[in-house]
Formats: sequence, structure tokens, C-alpha cells
Amino acid sequence: MQHKPAHILGEGGELNDAVWMDVLQAVDKTYADLIEYQEKLEARNNELQALRRFLGSIMSSVSDHLIVVEREGEIGNASASFCSALGMERDDLSGHMITEFFDGPEREKLMQAIADVIQRREEATIEVLLTTPTGKDPVEYKIAPRLDRRRKGIGAVLTGRPLGELRRAYSELEESHQQLKETQTQLVRNEKLASLGRLLAGVAHELNNPISFVYANTHSLEKYAERFETYFDRVQSGASREELIALRADLKLDRAVTNLRDAVGGARDGAERVRDIVEDLRRLSAEGSGEMIRFDLVETARVAANWIQRGSKTALTIRFEGKEQVIAIGRPGHIQQVLMNLVQNSVDAMAGQDDPQITIRADYEDGTAQLRLCDNGPGIPAEIAQTIFDPFFTTKDVGQGTGLGLSISHKILEEHGGSLSLCEKVKDGACFCMTLARGDEG
Ligand SMILES: Nc1ncnc2c1ncn2[C@@H]1O[C@H](COP(=O)(O)OP(=O)(O)O)[C@@H](O)[C@H]1O
Ligand SMILES: [Mg+2]
Repeated sequence: MQHKPAHILGEGGELNDAVWMDVLQAVDKTYADLIEYQEKLEARNNELQALRRFLGSIMSSVSDHLIVVEREGEIGNASASFCSALGMERDDLSGHMITEFFDGPEREKLMQAIADVIQRREEATIEVLLTTPTGKDPVEYKIAPRLDRRRKGIGAVLTGRPLGELRRAYSELEESHQQLKETQTQLVRNEKLASLGRLLAGVAHELNNPISFVYANTHSLEKYAERFETYFDRVQSGASREELIALRADLKLDRAVTNLRDAVGGARDGAERVRDIVEDLRRLSAEGSGEMIRFDLVETARVAANWIQRGSKTALTIRFEGKEQVIAIGRPGHIQQVLMNLVQNSVDAMAGQDDPQITIRADYEDGTAQLRLCDNGPGIPAEIAQTIFDPFFTTKDVGQGTGLGLSISHKILEEHGGSLSLCEKVKDGACFCMTLARGDEG
């Protein structure tokens, strides 16, 4: 406000009206300014209060340590988590130096780090041992500089989490992971044992026939041997020609000679069959982990189907279609396991059903060796078609299925660079399609 001294007093020394007006206006203005200022102050104060409450709730709720320190290390504010780690109340902490909670070299390390951060105005991370009532706890602190308006370092903010807690959580996680892995291994083992059991049932059945055949034939051989012994005894003791002729007819030696050959042949056939079965088994185990080789997919499928068929109690028709021979590249032992799984699943699905049938067709298609295995069972409902290959997915009762057969089979085909999936466009029953690398020139 500008005053003009010449006008303050009138000629008679009285205050000029105009001047009065000016003064009053100035007072009004000042008053209005004051009120406005007051309002602003209140608003600012409210903002500050809100900010303090906000900071307060952060300080009491963060689970990580949050510590605000001044330049020299005096604690300005700290989160409840930090205070409780020290066994102190938040109110008791202000005014303390941060150095009080770290021992010897740890203290120096921390103060050096804080000083560096403030000086360089750059964040840093250190691991230090915090001295707590229960011992020393490793904490990883991230230290950030606090700057004033002119970007001068005035202190630092530390945030960190006790590593002991993290490590404990980590080791618990590790432990449950380990347990899970063990359970999984156990289940895989169960599935393997189950398929081994099925295999053995088939083997036992398969061996039983030729062995009883060999047994029956050796029994006949024994009988013929007795007759020849009797005859030779008589020859040795000088029996007459007539007597020997009569004995020969009596003992039916002529027929015995022919039968002898049959019995020997029969025993040899049986023994050969046993040898073949053992050979099959030997290959199954030898090729289980071996190299990738060329093999006949049809033959492997025949052997697999044969084992399961022999081991299953119900009558089952297995038909082969397509090529007589389809050469693929892979580990026949593994592929045989896969095929046994598939056949077994079909057998399970068709349990109690009239005229159960499985059709296996092998062929070359799109430059690969393919095998399609279909049954005339209930088929696979669309809603589970996505999940049947998942580990542990089973619709069988507890103890009947592990839900691992298809998942292991799928993995085996993946390892071969091939595939195993449900075939598309299937009307009835279930159909599985397998693809492997083609092994012939074709
Ligand atoms: N041929 C099939 N017909 C109907 N359902 C099948 C057939 N093959 C597999 N499945 C379904 O897929 C599920 C998973 O099979 P799998 O992984 O071999 O485990 P598991 O035989 O132990 O149940 C079976 O429980 C069944 O529901
Ligand atoms: Mg199965």
C-alpha cells in the first residue's frame, strides 16, 4: 500500500477521508491475507498429519526392516518389525544410534556402507549380522541415500529382511520339494512294479505251456527207455532169436522208436520256446536303457500284446492290420513297455464287456513309423481327454491304477523324438496314436 504523506492530514490537521479509506482497506486486505494463510496452513497441516499416519502405518505394518537414519547414524524412525527383532518398543528406539545394534566389525562395515551411500548418493546392499536378544541374525540391507532439496546427503534409509527367516523358509521349501520328489519316485516305482507284476503273470503263463510239454515228453522218454533196457537185458543174457522177436512185439518197440523221435522233437520244441521267451525277456531288459536301434514295431507290438494277453484272465481278441513289418528307430524295450501299458489300459477299460477287441495297425505315414492301437471299450470322455496324460490322473480305484502309465509312456515317446496322443476322429472305443522315426530307407 502506498501512502502519500502530503495527504495524511488536512489543512486543519484532521485526518483526510481518503487516507482513512486507504488505511481501512489495507487492514481488510491484511486480515483477508491472514485468513487465507491460516487456511493454507491448516490444509498443509492436515496433509502432514495424513502423511504421518500413512508413514506410521507403513512403519508398523511392513514385515521388512525399514530404518531411517541421520547422517551420523542416529535412528530417526524405524519399522515395528525392526524394533521387535531387537525386542524394543518403537518409542524407545528414537534417539538411539544404529551402531548400538551391531557388534565390532559388523558395526564398522555398516557405518562405512552408510557413509559411502550418503557421499556417493548411490544405493548399496550389504549383509550384516544384527545383534538381537536371541543371537546374531544375518540381514541383507538395501541402503538408499536421503537427500535434501539441494541434493545434499542428509542421511539414509535402510530396508532389509532377516535372512535367517528367508533361509528357514527356503529350507522348508526345499524339504517339502524333496519329499514330493521321493513320493513321486515311489509312485513311479509302484507303477513299474505293477507292470512288472503283469509281465511276470504273462511270463509264468507263457513258460508253463512249453515246460509241461517238455515234462510230458521226457516222461514218455523215460518209459521208452525202460522198455529198451528190458529188451537189451534179454539180448545180453543170450535170449533166443524167437524169444527176442516176441519180446520186441510185446514191448511195442517199433512204435516206441517212432515215438521216441517225436518225444525228443517235442521236448526240443518246448525247450526252444522257453529259450525264445527268455530271449524276449533278456532283450526287454537289455534294450530298456540302451541305444537307439532299428527295430520292427510290429514285432514289438506282438510281443507286448502277447504278454498282456497271457497275463489277463479274460478272453481277448487282438488283431493286427497294416504292414507285416514297420521298421522304426528307438529303444524297443521302452517302446514295448509303452505298448504293454496301452494294451493293459484297454484290457482294464473293457473288463466285464462282451467280445473285447484290440486292433493294432502299423504303417509308414508322413515319413514316420506309426502305430495305432484301438479298442472297442467305452472310450475316453471328451472332458478327460486333456488330462489322461497328466501324471497321477486315474479313474481307477485306489490300488488299481497309479495314473502314471500314460504319463510315463508319453515321456518315453517324447524322449524318442516321437509322439503319443489320442487319435483324432474316433467313433467308438479309445484309440492311441504313436509316432516314431522311420528306420528303413523308404
Ligand atoms: N483304452 C482306454 N479306454 C478308456 N479309458 C482309458 C484308456 N486308456 C486310458 N484310459 C483312461 O486314462 C486314465 C489314465 O491311464 P494311465 O495313465 O495308464 O493310468 P492308470 O492306468 O493307472 O489309471 C485311466 O485311468 C483311464 O481313465
Ligand atoms: Mg495304465
